[in-house]
Amino acid sequence: MTSIDDFIPRFPNQDIFTRCVGKGTEGKVFVVSRRQNLVAKIYFPSRFASGLELAQHEYNVTDSLYHHGISVPKPEGVFEISFFWRSERYPAFVMERIRSGIRLDKLNLKKYSEEYELGLELMKNEEERVKKLGFTSVDVWTGNCFYFPEEKKVILYDFSRWGLPRMP
Ligand SMILES: Nc1ncnc2c1ncn2[C@@H]1O[C@H](COP(=O)(O)OP(=O)(O)O)[C@@H](O)[C@H]1O
Ligand SMILES: [Mg+2]
Repeated sequence: MTSIDDFIPRFPNQDIFTRCVGKGTEGKVFVVSRRQNLVAKIYFPSRFASGLELAQHEYNVTDSLYHHGISVPKPEGVFEISFFWRSERYPAFVMERIRSGIRLDKLNLKKYSEEYELGLELMKNEEERVKKLGFTSVDVWTGNCFYFPEEKKVILYDFSRWGLPRMP
């Protein structure tokens, strides 16, 4: 049954070609606007949660992290996404597209071991900060972390199973 709470806006001005840039165990990530530099994560629904619930949860966690100054993709919102070759629409979490970073797990360990160590340290520091803020962090690993060698910084992503801090 649908209710008014299930209403989600369609993503405005979606690119016609919606290229997939990543796939994990919980969802797939597509470029939805090159001009606005945005990607959308569409979730595989589970027995426990619908695609919309998962999108809404990851948006809430990312938004909260972002406002606490943690290094994450800037969240845009929850929107309906479509593909021109299909009639279905999918709820998705839309966020900033990260382009220039390298996924830390893709760094060639033999060639770049120092960079890798530094990236790992930055990732762990960021995780310590989120724990201190009261978030429950799950699945923080090098495959959920972009590393920027020039700026010496990391961006964490993939918060679908994280928990928000409890109210005092
Ligand atoms: N904001 C983003 N910008 C660019 N690529 C992304 C972004 N978020 C995720 N990706 C890519 O999509 C892949 C899957 O995303 P992720 O959130 O880790 O999905 P899952 O929850 O299924 O593991 C990532 O490994 C990464 O390569
Ligand atoms: Mg992941």
